[in-house]
Amino acid sequence: MSESDTRQRLRDLKALEGPFDPVDFGTAPDNPQALFLNWLDTAIAAGIAEPHAMTLSTIDAQGHPDARVLILKNVDSRGWHFAISAVSPKGRQVAANPAVALTFYWQKLGRQVRIRGRALALDADECAQDFLARSVDARANVLLERQSAPLDARPSVAEAMRDARARIDADPDLVSPVWQAYAVAPETVEFWQGATDRLHDRLIFRRNGAGWDRELLWP
Ligand SMILES: Cc1cc2nc3c(=O)[nH]c(=O)nc-3n(C[C@H](O)[C@H](O)[C@H](O)COP(=O)(O)O)c2cc1C
Repeated sequence: MSESDTRQRLRDLKALEGPFDPVDFGTAPDNPQALFLNWLDTAIAAGIAEPHAMTLSTIDAQGHPDARVLILKNVDSRGWHFAISAVSPKGRQVAANPAVALTFYWQKLGRQVRIRGRALALDADECAQDFLARSVDARANVLLERQSAPLDARPSVAEAMRDARARIDADPDLVSPVWQAYAVAPETVEFWQGATDRLHDRLIFRRNGAGWDRELLWP
């Protein structure tokens, strides 16, 4: 396909087609966690696939951005939780620089949520609880401690997985020492409701001491 074909094919694709329900940010809860949980409920009720999938953006040792999709584990007064291998690239990046961003996109609702803040490491008990709630395969995968390392030969993965599953069989309470849970303590949280006429509604919460300042933003 030529470059101009690609441009045309992309231009022909639809985005933000709607219809979307209008939002009334005037009646929104006074903290971003509560509004997020309302929106998450709506996304689940609307049958959105993997509504708990989010993009975690980090900064590497060179100051360059990096990003990948992860699963949201919890939301509470401490923030938005995720859990990762400390020996993966993202694990090293978050440990060295806790400034992160999380982005959710719920296509059918035309909604995006953007969270910026600092990732606070949770204690060993919470990490262990999260680890033990994972499936055997998901736990075995963490025990490999090789995520994102160069892969020479696929069979070595199967072999390593067999060994890791055997370690779990022998000790079902085994917890990986590299499994690290975090809560992203938000500094700003922006709720974005797309509109077909492009007059999108946007509300941003900015932390102010123990409370929140809120502001509407231009589309
Ligand atoms: C829908 C979806 C969910 C994912 N969930 C996770 C997850 O919970 N944990 C994880 O380590 N990687 C998950 N991944 C894979 C990551 O996006 C990423 O490829 C991997 O963690 C390696 O990232 P890194 O090299 O930056 O450390 C998921 C990918 C997708 C598309």
